[in-house]
Amino acid sequence: MAVTTPANMKHWDSQELQQLRKRAKAWFLKKGRALPWRESNDPYRIWISEIMLQQTQVVTVIPYFHRFLQAFPTVIALANAPEEQVLLHWSGLGYYRRAKQLHAAAKVIRDQHNGSFPTDFESVLALPGIGRYTAGAICSFAYDARTPIVEANTQRLFARLLRLKGQLAEKPIQDQLWFFASSILPERSGSGAVNQAVMELGSQICTPKEPSCQECPLRELCPTFANGEQATIPSPKPPKVYEEKVEAALVVQNEATELLLRRCQPGERWAGLWDFPRFDVTTVKSASQLEQSISEQFESRFGASVCLQEELLQLKHGVTRYRITLRCFRATLDVSTTQVSEASNKGVGHDTQWCSASNLKEIPLSSTGKQISEHLRKLLDANGP
Ligand code: ADE
Repeated sequence: MAVTTPANMKHWDSQELQQLRKRAKAWFLKKGRALPWRESNDPYRIWISEIMLQQTQVVTVIPYFHRFLQAFPTVIALANAPEEQVLLHWSGLGYYRRAKQLHAAAKVIRDQHNGSFPTDFESVLALPGIGRYTAGAICSFAYDARTPIVEANTQRLFARLLRLKGQLAEKPIQDQLWFFASSILPERSGSGAVNQAVMELGSQICTPKEPSCQECPLRELCPTFANGEQATIPSPKPPKVYEEKVEAALVVQNEATELLLRRCQPGERWAGLWDFPRFDVTTVKSASQLEQSISEQFESRFGASVCLQEELLQLKHGVTRYRITLRCFRATLDVSTTQVSEASNKGVGHDTQWCSASNLKEIPLSSTGKQISEHLRKLLDANGP
């Protein structure tokens, strides 16, 4: 691969690369964390962990990983499970597209690979939801293949080891990082161990702020340490620009005190998961306008009227470039329109259901739906049945 070399970048000779491997592996043996997916080289377990670890921290992933494997111990069990069950076990981890792609990939493995996880890089890479990093991680950790990895932790470490200046997301920089990630792998066996070690160094030692250089086994080889440039390599990302939004969620009760849920539709945020009805009220200025806007939006979507009651809670959350304030209100169905709502319930393009508060935990809810449901459970516990 032809890769352009930025000025002042460190060139690593084969002896230094040898040193890097040796020191990183020795450090990992002594200091690497014992994480549940490191206990075996089963590609299925490694795959599940890698997908969960995309965008989610290790401490959060551990309990989900155990519960998921208990529910779906094999790729066949996962492929044969209904999507709602898979989403339920993902509920709270966020980025639900990952769970859907995991499920889709399990079906491909069942139907096109005789139920055995593929063993060659290209077939692993071809599975839904698996990119170059994840395929490299699975193949090197499970099969000790000589497949490089570059992800958030390793790219920071590599950028410092190379003294690479510039934005990490830029293509020439990415090319350098992948080239280096290949060059650190041994010719014969041991790529899995090297990849594990550099990933752990990136996450535990070579942190974005105030890296622990004094404990780093690669300190003497690191040009960024030698030049005291840890704060500027890698270059800080340009700040994200967020857009503020205000949304309203309604906890609508019917006469049987069941709650109205709707399934998020394809193309929407949280597609496939259930949620309380939600409306955009960003442009609303006053309390009376708010009530009117919510009532009108509810009526046009569900063909029924609601009376807005007290505000139950406010949640703040971020989705892509939006920072959302979610105001949650209790609402009751207008008695005269109960019938209309029940009729619309039987299908005007929205999947809806009435659910008792005690059954909410059986339903795969959006992450804010889950937080609202937990709040309702606490209210119920405090107020008694
Ligand atoms: N982040 C992504 N993959 C990881 C792994 N296998 N171990 C720890 N952190 C990770």
